[in-house]
Amino acid sequence: MPEPPGGREHRMPRPVASSTAYTVQQGILYTASRKDLGDVVPADLARDVLVALEATAEGRRRLAQLGRRRSRVWLRAQEAAVLPGILLHYPVRKVAIARAVEEALRAGATRVVVLAAGLDLLARRLALAWPDAQFVEVDLPATQADKRQALDALGPQPPNLWLLPADLSQAALPDLLAGLPVGVGGPTVVVAEALTMYLPAEAQRRLAAEAAEVCGPSGRFVVTFVRHTLAPGDVGPLLRAYLWFKREDLRSQLDPDEAVALLVEAGFSDAAVQTGPELTHDLLGERAPGRPHDAEFLVIADRASS
Ligand SMILES: C[S@@+](CC[C@H](N)C(=O)[O-])C[C@H]1O[C@@H](n2cnc3c(N)ncnc32)[C@H](O)[C@@H]1O
Repeated sequence: MPEPPGGREHRMPRPVASSTAYTVQQGILYTASRKDLGDVVPADLARDVLVALEATAEGRRRLAQLGRRRSRVWLRAQEAAVLPGILLHYPVRKVAIARAVEEALRAGATRVVVLAAGLDLLARRLALAWPDAQFVEVDLPATQADKRQALDALGPQPPNLWLLPADLSQAALPDLLAGLPVGVGGPTVVVAEALTMYLPAEAQRRLAAEAAEVCGPSGRFVVTFVRHTLAPGDVGPLLRAYLWFKREDLRSQLDPDEAVALLVEAGFSDAAVQTGPELTHDLLGERAPGRPHDAEFLVIADRASS
């Protein structure tokens, strides 16, 4: 695998859909097919992911891989080398994120903004369940074009779901949302799942401040980060090389205390960290594998302290 260049120069996003957005959905279906832990993926989510992947050429390619024994072995080998435990971590983190967002909706949030949504189906599912709230997805244009195909395959788009194409390393989130033809106001939940690592440090800081602004005084930011040292063992160089090869460079890594400091500086009062092992144990209890994923962690940051 080629080594990434030493510097961190900004490479333009590719005019094709994000490969890692597909990798997440493929990983969810892989986990759903496991005899021991497949129940981690709710059956309706697995069904929707299947329909979504069948809607695009790249999705069909990923599904074909899942159907070949050799490709499944390769997927596991890649996982072990690049990000141990990630295939189970994908649905585990999605369950935790969905819970955090639903909790905020029950507490009165009226808008959910999913940044870098990829092919994730949370906003669609919640838009159907919460017709009085507004849901917005932001992503790079090429990825969002594939997402539109996936959403079309799933049925009529809920009228309270909006898709905004934008590069979040350049665009200002409040300006983007101000362009929507719907009223703003009310507490907002911003979700940034598997995004911050692709942003330069400065853009990451700016995004946290913008998220605090659009959340309003009682909103919530649900966000993941990648640690400096990826455990078990430092797989950082391989991960960087893998992502460089995909043209989705790993640009920022933070440890939990740095992430909390960043979010507090941005204006959040409470920032609760849940590491990969904590998320896995919370969901699976004694069924949790011996060495759960421990590179990416989740932070639930609230504007108002509880
Ligand atoms: C690993 S995927 C995660 C997708 C989704 N959040 C999930 O977890 O299923 C990374 C996503 O970040 C998006 N992304 C990367 N850089 C971005 C940027 N500068 N602006 C907007 N989206 C970006 C990609 O298009 C892709 O959808």
